[in-house]
Amino acid sequence: MLQSGPMQATVRHASRLRGSITPPGDKSISHRAVIFNAIADGEARIENYGPGADCLSTLRIMRALGADIETESAGGSSVVVRARPLTEPADVLNAGNSGTTMRLVSGVLAGAPFMSVLTGDASLRSRPMGRIIEPLQLMGAPIDARANGTLAPLVFRGGSLHGIHYRMPVASAQLKSCLLLAGLFADEETVIEQPALSRDHTELMFRAMGIDVAEDGLTVSVKPGRLNAVDVTVPADISSAAYWLVAAVCHPDAEVQVRGVGVNPSRTGVLDALVAMGADIRIENRRSEGGEPVADLSARSSTLEAIEIGGDLIPRLVDEVPVLALAACFAKGTTHIKDAAELRIKESDRLRVTNRELTRLGARIEELPDGLRITGGAKLTGAACRSSNDHRMAMTLGIAGLLASGETTVTSAESASVSYPSFWDDLGSLAGAGS
Ligand code: S3P
Repeated sequence: MLQSGPMQATVRHASRLRGSITPPGDKSISHRAVIFNAIADGEARIENYGPGADCLSTLRIMRALGADIETESAGGSSVVVRARPLTEPADVLNAGNSGTTMRLVSGVLAGAPFMSVLTGDASLRSRPMGRIIEPLQLMGAPIDARANGTLAPLVFRGGSLHGIHYRMPVASAQLKSCLLLAGLFADEETVIEQPALSRDHTELMFRAMGIDVAEDGLTVSVKPGRLNAVDVTVPADISSAAYWLVAAVCHPDAEVQVRGVGVNPSRTGVLDALVAMGADIRIENRRSEGGEPVADLSARSSTLEAIEIGGDLIPRLVDEVPVLALAACFAKGTTHIKDAAELRIKESDRLRVTNRELTRLGARIEELPDGLRITGGAKLTGAACRSSNDHRMAMTLGIAGLLASGETTVTSAESASVSYPSFWDDLGSLAGAGS
């Protein structure tokens, strides 16, 4: 069914999809668990830490800043963090491909009493950092950055921060979390107004760590203070689960379980959208692990109808737009995805790449300035696809390969390991010998 080399995956149409998958630990929660515990008082154990390259970038950077971090299994799934006073790093800190690492760590470095430089790979160095630099400078942080203060590398010189009242121009959880972190080091309360709700893992974890985060509608505020270490069991990543859910609901002969998935309401937009399209997805065994809701999800072959996806739903499914666009290819009618211009400044321009690659497979799709319009029902035929080194595009195209006729190849398939190193193995096991 699948051959996966260092650069290219080959996926053939699957005649049936059956199986049960537990995706890796949630990337957003993993980053936060390590960064927050590294600046907390005490020692914490993190179970099911995300094994992807992005989460490893966070481990590497927090170690370089002096945190004592031990990884306990081969894949690094158990992590023990013993906080130490942060110290000036001896070298440039490299966040690799990880926007979350860069933006969250910036909130810590802005309040740290030393000089540091933070960079990333070519993709990350082209992503907008002005959105964090501007408010951090308003808080009093002396920060320099390339391209007139908008692009990494970023240079922090240490300084004392004051609390601000800030209206965020975009509903970004990375920006919100950066400012909440910096707010811990400020001299007075920091108040942040969001244009729409984005994932609230920072707020939940701060509270579990003894910090008072007040929420009033779209306004979040934090008072300066110290975090207390807290053990975290990371649920499976709903953004990784989304690939299997879409595969199952679009395939004519599929039954798939995805287990132990984090279903925090600020992340379940993908479930809401698929269910609104008519997807047969059951949410079972709801439970709570470490303050985050968790459930098992069962998805099966479904008859899908087009919907409109936009507004406040977008931040709740921001990373799932490419795979939802694929689902829309199997829905009756025209799906309109709008208010999603943020997709253009992710690891790749995901509106452009989704349009380009799904077109290659035969989809009827149109790129809009802030979204996509997809008319379902066109037959998808295997083709040679390019992932643009973007993990979410590589995985979306892998799922497209299972659903399309014939054979699909995906370049830089290894980029899936940014968030989901076992993705291609799980894809192979789901399609099994029957494909
Ligand atoms: C994330 C927030 C989102 C998301 C990213 C993870 C986080 O980014 O796309 O994958 O962990 O806070 P934005 O804040 O840029 O929307």
